[in-house]
Amino acid sequence: MKVLGIETSCDECSVAVVENGKTIHSNVIATQLSIHRPYNGVVPEIASRTHTEWIWPVVDRALSEADISKEGIDGVAVTNRPGLVGSLLVGLSFAKAYAYTLKKPLIAIDHIRAHLYAAHLEYDIEYPYIGLIVSGGHTIICRVDDFDTIAVLGTTIDDACGEAFDKVAKHYGFGYPGGLAIDRLARGGDSGAFKFPDPSLHKGEHAYDVSYSGLKTAVINQLGQFKNKPGDDRPEDIAASFEKAAIDLLMRRVKKALSDEGISRLVAGGGVAANSYFRKLAGDLRKTDVYFPSLTLCTDNGAMVAGLGYHYLKRDITSERTVNAFSRVEGFKKKYP
Ligand code: KG4
Ligand code: ZN
Repeated sequence: MKVLGIETSCDECSVAVVENGKTIHSNVIATQLSIHRPYNGVVPEIASRTHTEWIWPVVDRALSEADISKEGIDGVAVTNRPGLVGSLLVGLSFAKAYAYTLKKPLIAIDHIRAHLYAAHLEYDIEYPYIGLIVSGGHTIICRVDDFDTIAVLGTTIDDACGEAFDKVAKHYGFGYPGGLAIDRLARGGDSGAFKFPDPSLHKGEHAYDVSYSGLKTAVINQLGQFKNKPGDDRPEDIAASFEKAAIDLLMRRVKKALSDEGISRLVAGGGVAANSYFRKLAGDLRKTDVYFPSLTLCTDNGAMVAGLGYHYLKRDITSERTVNAFSRVEGFKKKYP
């Protein structure tokens, strides 16, 4: 079965054709990075207007790269949550019309579940596993028993991990998008140069929750202190010290989740899963099979949507034509309230 996957939840306009949840025939990712760069962040209205212009050509390109006609697809999967509602609505409305015209089933897909599925496109992964979604909008540690059975163990209580990377980079003028800029800078820096407060000491945290707001503020406040000590402000050291504090916290939580659940499999997804320090630390985890999607499949893409869509289609789980777009996650069981 070949599924067309449409992803427009934020600033990537991406469409893919994936067969049987595994074989990627095409995965076109049209990024709006340069459009949003002058604003140092995604401007929601510009994002949705750009999707409106790009969606047709991106779909056409995905079909032509896959060398398949639109009649040859078996279903249309589309992200309908969570994300920027205006952006989601462009993909969703397009998908509804496309599926209706082609008389094919429509499958609405949750973006978080799709990020978790990304690694399944490249590896055969058994359940259960500990899932870690770290993106610009979400930081979720969960136990995954099936592609649709996910129990949340911990989340961020304030900023998402990627959001902290983006905000630190914005204040220091490291470049946009911030996560990648910090990753590159940090490789030449000394991660012990600055001691930032341990984010896990944040009040109110519970066993698997994380907090990034305090760390982000401390790193940004450091900028003011450089005025008195010019020369100490090596961007590489700031980047490396911040990155270490942010990622070490995640790893501590993940290790605890793996050990408490008695699970020896970890699957990561989302933009921050592209971070090289994180990939190195997780890769070194003892007695644990670690699965990271390749870099293109970490960030937003249509292939993860098409891949997951296949499994719903196989179970005959499809969506009504009245299905809507939502900004928030839904339907995740909270394992530890
Ligand atoms: O999954 P994604 O493409 O979009 C969302 O669903 O949010 O993730 C984007 C986030 C941004 O915050 C970006 O700065 C971060 O992922 N990111 C990284 C890296 N590449 C992207 N963060 C740290 N290191 C990276 N190499
Ligand atoms: Zn995402």
